[in-house]
Amino acid sequence: MAWLLLALSVSMATVSAQIPCPNNMVCSCTDTNIECHDRALVAVPVFTSDSHYTTLHLENNMIETLPDDAFKNLQKVMIIFLRNNTINTVSRNAFRGVEAGILHLDLAQNNLTEFPLAAGALENLMRIDVSNNPIDENHFDEHTMYDIGDKLTRLDFGSDSLHQWPNTLRHLQALEVLNVTGGSFYTLPPTAFHGFEGTLKTLSIQHTQLIALPFALSKLRFLDHLYFDHNHAIGDSGILITSLSNDTLTNLQYVSLVDDNLTYFPSLLRFLRNVHTLILDSNRLAFVSDSSVAVAVGTAITTLSLRNCSLSRVPGALSKLTNLTKLDLTDNQIRSFENSDFQNMGRLTTLTVTRNPLEFIANETFKDLRCLQQLDIMESNIKTMPEAIRFLRNLTTLTLPLDKIECTCNIVWLKQFMEVCNTNLKIAGSCETIDSPVADYLRAHIPNCPNYASQTQCVSSTCT
Ligand SMILES: *[C@@H]1O[C@H](CO)[C@@H](O)[C@H](O)[C@H]1NC(C)=O
Ligand SMILES: *[C@@H]1O[C@H](CO)[C@@H](O)[C@H](O)[C@H]1NC(C)=O
Ligand SMILES: *[C@@H]1O[C@H](CO)[C@@H](O)[C@H](O)[C@H]1NC(C)=O
Ligand SMILES: *[C@@H]1O[C@H](CO)[C@@H](O)[C@H](O)[C@H]1NC(C)=O
Ligand SMILES: *[C@@H]1O[C@H](CO)[C@@H](O)[C@H](O)[C@H]1NC(C)=O
Ligand SMILES: *[C@@H]1O[C@H](CO)[C@@H](O)[C@H](O)[C@H]1NC(C)=O
Ligand SMILES: *[C@@H]1O[C@H](CO)[C@@H](O)[C@H](O)[C@H]1NC(C)=O
Ligand SMILES: *[C@@H]1O[C@H](CO)[C@@H](O)[C@H](O)[C@H]1NC(C)=O
Ligand SMILES: *[C@@H]1O[C@H](CO)[C@@H](O)[C@H](O)[C@H]1NC(C)=O
Repeated sequence: MAWLLLALSVSMATVSAQIPCPNNMVCSCTDTNIECHDRALVAVPVFTSDSHYTTLHLENNMIETLPDDAFKNLQKVMIIFLRNNTINTVSRNAFRGVEAGILHLDLAQNNLTEFPLAAGALENLMRIDVSNNPIDENHFDEHTMYDIGDKLTRLDFGSDSLHQWPNTLRHLQALEVLNVTGGSFYTLPPTAFHGFEGTLKTLSIQHTQLIALPFALSKLRFLDHLYFDHNHAIGDSGILITSLSNDTLTNLQYVSLVDDNLTYFPSLLRFLRNVHTLILDSNRLAFVSDSSVAVAVGTAITTLSLRNCSLSRVPGALSKLTNLTKLDLTDNQIRSFENSDFQNMGRLTTLTVTRNPLEFIANETFKDLRCLQQLDIMESNIKTMPEAIRFLRNLTTLTLPLDKIECTCNIVWLKQFMEVCNTNLKIAGSCETIDSPVADYLRAHIPNCPNYASQTQCVSSTCT
């Protein structure tokens, strides 16, 4: 049997080695890829006739033009990567001969001033990326949009050259994912998403001058993911809009509002009752008030991310969100955990507090965290092993700082806890007092401590 497999794989390797690469001069071929990226090319290489390779990599070169018939010999190519070149011209017949084959075209980070008309000939184009090209709102040609509109499911576009919303997008009747990566407009027309209001599932709008969540959003009844990040002019008033109030966004599950100049915990969950994940990273949240969080009570929210939000303590209001399973407080200025900080969070399974100047954890901080499985306090100033760990009988992973923990016979209790109360716990992190991982110290040194005894009282705490 083994010899048969060996013979088979040898013969298969020989077969694939025999498929000639359509260009051996500057490119190479692997599996189904033609690799011509990162080669300082100033023109599209000449390709000989081929009916094997499906993906063409031409990204990170210095190509300026896609001439007529550039790809005509590549009969099986479905995906062409051309991002990060200096393309300013795409000839009308650039894709002649491969009109039916191409499904995905990546032209991001080029020097195009118009949406390529040649794309209109691509009969099965599902995805095109023209983001970070200086294309303004008047150069998304109506006929081209119409021609690709019945098949295209994903469009990425946007740059500072876009001063208004291109209204020809209304021809994209099959669109499911729209990713806008830049724009100097500050409002959107209410009809912006007309044409794909009944198909769009994911909307991403980043790096624009928008001053509010657009009213047009309220029409996207199948939207499930909303990324509305790095829109610096939004601010608190831009989120509090009534256009979300008519209950159309019932499919929305994931909302990201990263770096939007918010200072209050936004109360938009009042309208978005089915959102389970809310990402608020990189906003200076000076106020996380009881009343703003109270609107999230009774919603579906289980995951909350508050990374880099300038928090100096764990917001007390969060203890109202008793259904949370994941909480991320990475990159804040939290110095201590008090006994009430994680009150009522009995469903929390993952708590991440990496990179905080945390130096004190009160003894009963984790009293309610019966279901916690992962606790990450890496890159903190914790030196003394937190006794509050005694409450975490469901914990499987504890990530401590490197080279900071005081490993002495004072942590005999932890070894006993791991032998009797929680046998699944794995500890990462290392000692300050001795050159050793904490886990090794517990195993090798603790049993020699005079106060060592292999029994202890476990707190009664079960995750239900
Ligand atoms: C763009 O391509 C150049 C080479 O032409 C490369 O040095 C650079 O790192 C690439 N940039 C990105 C963002 O990939
Ligand atoms: C992009 O095109 C403009 C003129 O259309 C030109 O001035 C500029 O040098 C081009 N940029 C690159 C990187 O080729
Ligand atoms: C949108 O495009 C940007 C830039 O290419 C990318 O970083 C981001 O992940 C994309 N967003 C989505 C939702 O795919
Ligand atoms: C961010 O919001 C503050 C008010 O909270 C405002 O003064 C500031 O101009 C905003 N920043 C931008 C870039 O709009
Ligand atoms: C409410 O949703 C409908 C779509 O179901 C939309 O046409 C209408 O403009 C929305 N109204 C408001 C006030 O958001
Ligand atoms: C943290 O958030 C600020 C905005 O409040 C942003 O400018 C900065 O880039 C963010 N830092 C990181 C590491 O994400
Ligand atoms: C927790 O979830 C349940 C069921 O989804 C819901 O009925 C309850 O109101 C939620 N509790 C809070 C505090 O949000
Ligand atoms: C609380 O912590 C202190 C200092 O670590 C310790 O001396 C004390 O015994 C602890 N108290 C309880 C009730 O665990
Ligand atoms: C955590 O609790 C759940 C529910 O009681 C249980 O199924 C699971 O085995 C526990 N895990 C550990 C590591 O104790």
